Amino acid sequence: MIKTRMTDLFGCKHPIMLAGMNWVTTPELVAAVCNAGGLGIFATARCTPEETRKGINEIRKLTDKPFGINQLLILGQVARDTIQVAIEEKVPVINYTLGKPWFIDEVHKYGGRVIGTTAFVKHAIKAAELGCDAIVVTGAEAAAHGEEASTLIMLPIVASKVKIPIISAGGYGDGRGLAAALSLGASAISMGTRFALTKESTVHEHFKQLCLKATENDTIVSTKFDGMRGRALKTPVTERIAKGGFPLVEAFRGAYETKQLFNLSWPKFIGMSFSMMGSDDQHPLWVQARQAAGYRRHTLAIYDGNMKEGIYFAGQILGACNDVPTVAELIDRIMVEAEATLKKTYSMLA
Ligand SMILES: Cc1cc2nc3c(=O)[nH]c(=O)nc-3n(C[C@H](O)[C@H](O)[C@H](O)COP(=O)(O)O)c2cc1C
Repeated sequence: MIKTRMTDLFGCKHPIMLAGMNWVTTPELVAAVCNAGGLGIFATARCTPEETRKGINEIRKLTDKPFGINQLLILGQVARDTIQVAIEEKVPVINYTLGKPWFIDEVHKYGGRVIGTTAFVKHAIKAAELGCDAIVVTGAEAAAHGEEASTLIMLPIVASKVKIPIISAGGYGDGRGLAAALSLGASAISMGTRFALTKESTVHEHFKQLCLKATENDTIVSTKFDGMRGRALKTPVTERIAKGGFPLVEAFRGAYETKQLFNLSWPKFIGMSFSMMGSDDQHPLWVQARQAAGYRRHTLAIYDGNMKEGIYFAGQILGACNDVPTVAELIDRIMVEAEATLKKTYSMLA
């Protein structure tokens, strides 16, 4: 048994968290992680407030353990509405990224906890100053939105600068990784790629099989997948998109997706398109449109297993993923290996 500040703070058995992954972290996967002793996180960025409430209720039917939701604060009102639902439902953990949390006091009032997620040292320090209870620090190895610095670099730097518990993300999949993270100053690890490759994960079989064959060199980083720097499984689709120029058609397609998603009128859509054409490609409208285009491709991969158009976010830890265990098998295995590794390391002390 390994007890850390993270297991004390969140009341879970093991220092392992399920990373928020839109479309992947279903209530079933979240509950499976909670029931196996970890902290399950339900990603809500692509959920309406009603879907968020429904997901929370489904999780509560499947587990009585603490769990959390994850939200991208850049989504503005959509994020506000979802967080409001989570507060009304007194969700034990609110995990946010990409923005400034306004809800920390409200969550603390009902005994909940707030976890910030970042890939930058300066944002980790800010999250601690703002009153977050813990922080997820994501290294470059991670699927999706890591930055340039690897976990090995980021984690000790952040650990020397913040006092709140750190949950390290990016590149974890086994017990040796957990033992290393604890030695580097983390109180827990968060995993995405590895949990997406479990029996309870509903990721399409085509992509699970591709992941099993992939090595640590079979991922690719680009800003062209969804407008933000992101790491995905290397396939003919992702290689073509990464090598191509600015994805103009893709971005307009994304703008149209945004129109459909938020029920925008045609005049609003045309206005948005003109604003996009008058601004540089880093303008929030372009980024938003490219995100929407990326979302379409992610769902094609995750739900349909579409290899011709789908993009599947995946991290470098794929190189060490050789099977599709159940969540409980995976967590048990990691804990046994982490304990053995820590004992072996301890025995080296003269
Ligand atoms: C299939 C998949 C989908 C993901 N989707 C999202 C997402 O929608 N939004 C997000 O911020 N991060 C997403 N992530 C990233 C995770 O939240 C997490 O940061 C990352 O997986 C941690 O590193 P690891 O993959 O090495 O475990 C996704 C990861 C995977 C594997």
